[in-house]
Amino acid sequence: MDKRNHQSINKGALTVHEGIIKTDFLIIGSGLSGLSLGWKLSKAGRVLILTKKSKENSNSANAQGGIAVVLSGDEKKIEKHISDTIKAGDGLCDENIVRMIVNHGGKCVKELIDMGVPFTRTEDGTFDYGKEGGHSQRIVIHAGDITGNEVQKTMIDFVEECPNLQIVEHMIAVNLVVKDKQCLGIYALNTETGNIASIQSRYTILATGGAGKVYVYTSNPDIATGDGIAMAARAGATITNMEFFQFHPTCLYHPYAKSFLISEALRGEGAILLNEQGERFMEQYDDRMELAPRDVVSRSIDKEMKIHGLDCVYLDISFKPKKFIKKRFPNIHARCLEYNIDMTREPIPVVPAAHYTCGGILANLDGTTTIKGLHAIGETSCTGFHGANRLASNSLLECVVMADFTSKYIKKEMDSNPRALTDFKPWDVGKALPSKEGVVVKHDWDEIRSVMWNYVGIVRSIRSLQRAKARIDLISREIREYYWDYLITADLVELRNIAVVADLIIQSAMQRKESRGTHFIVDYPEKAGKASMTKLVIQAQT
Ligand code: SIN
Repeated sequence: MDKRNHQSINKGALTVHEGIIKTDFLIIGSGLSGLSLGWKLSKAGRVLILTKKSKENSNSANAQGGIAVVLSGDEKKIEKHISDTIKAGDGLCDENIVRMIVNHGGKCVKELIDMGVPFTRTEDGTFDYGKEGGHSQRIVIHAGDITGNEVQKTMIDFVEECPNLQIVEHMIAVNLVVKDKQCLGIYALNTETGNIASIQSRYTILATGGAGKVYVYTSNPDIATGDGIAMAARAGATITNMEFFQFHPTCLYHPYAKSFLISEALRGEGAILLNEQGERFMEQYDDRMELAPRDVVSRSIDKEMKIHGLDCVYLDISFKPKKFIKKRFPNIHARCLEYNIDMTREPIPVVPAAHYTCGGILANLDGTTTIKGLHAIGETSCTGFHGANRLASNSLLECVVMADFTSKYIKKEMDSNPRALTDFKPWDVGKALPSKEGVVVKHDWDEIRSVMWNYVGIVRSIRSLQRAKARIDLISREIREYYWDYLITADLVELRNIAVVADLIIQSAMQRKESRGTHFIVDYPEKAGKASMTKLVIQAQT
């Protein structure tokens, strides 16, 4: 093996080598599900958490709204949370899974409270519950308007104290190593040295988040390239419900405000949507007005923009007291001011943007997938919890609950019949050369994202899907050639992944001959009776 590959990464109690790394539990992704699982598993063995940028950089950290949860155990409220989730999911939620997550949520969120996450309280000391679209009650616990960031910070402080756990930054997973339907580990690229490590693990857990970057306009950070979904698909895992991509109705519309979300919690506090004429247009679309589920609100905005040829619509909360707005939404208020928008005095220009991947790797609540030794948790997985459209603030809830169930499953197996570590051959660079054609990668990135936005966005048609498929097939062929000819880089790894995710979304959308939840296709505008999940197993693509 290449000598360069023996560079050592020495952090905390563990010393690992870039060439061959062995660990009990390999977790890919440092968002809430990955950190939470790492913390729980560190009592059962060595945990390695890999993150492709810095540990703070995750989709969870961007969550503004909060966590939907009933902490009191009040059964009526729990039932309402369950029925709101199922209603938003538009006939595709698995009721058993919904019940288990909602019922177990209180315990897991209490752990976050005990860890010291600074959830906002009212003057009498009780939690300040917010409300968002699709909810019939106020059950969203939040930390100001930066809940994800606060949870992530607290979690990182906790896991960094775990002696048996190590977070390795700037390492991007390239491929899973799967033999006889068993996952043995991964190959991962050190983005600082360019070397590729073989990481052997008893259990490999994908906690890689969603894939918003497959679209031009997204609320997601740059890291959201669906890496886990793409790797699992290439390895032959079953992928499900990819046609259901949730578009958040309100991202800030400003040329320099890259992916800044204007939380649905504003609408929960009474904010209204206006068109350019200052008309409250939601009354034409849904009785629940601005608090209809996200799929409905996003489609209504899209329609309004198309009818009137608008670049954006407006979200207005300026009629509320200035003091309230600044206290409840300090971060959003400050960020808008950076763009000369004073939300205490004027409406905020907004547009819908890709926000949440409702589909993903088919998984049970304990993260088990169709490949042994491979688990998937959080946004990268699809358990049937979200159905065709996720209820607001249910995502962080799913992260902590799945982490808890997965840790229990793995710990139990470790006690009774632990999986063995298995050698596999190191990465072979073959005849690959350093690339001199970075422009191809950039061009393909841009093209995939605009094809997806224009043809596979909020509203689809059979023809638009066919057009998208033809283009993505062509780009995918180009990427495969490029992948073999040149040494890989993080950009190429991500490009290859968004191409796979784009293809999965298109294929799933073509399979669904109805409109449901976030999937709206003009040729089949109605729901088609009883629904089932779309399932795809794609041919292994190198
Ligand atoms: C928001 O604050 O609007 C986003 C919350 C979520 O996606 O659940």
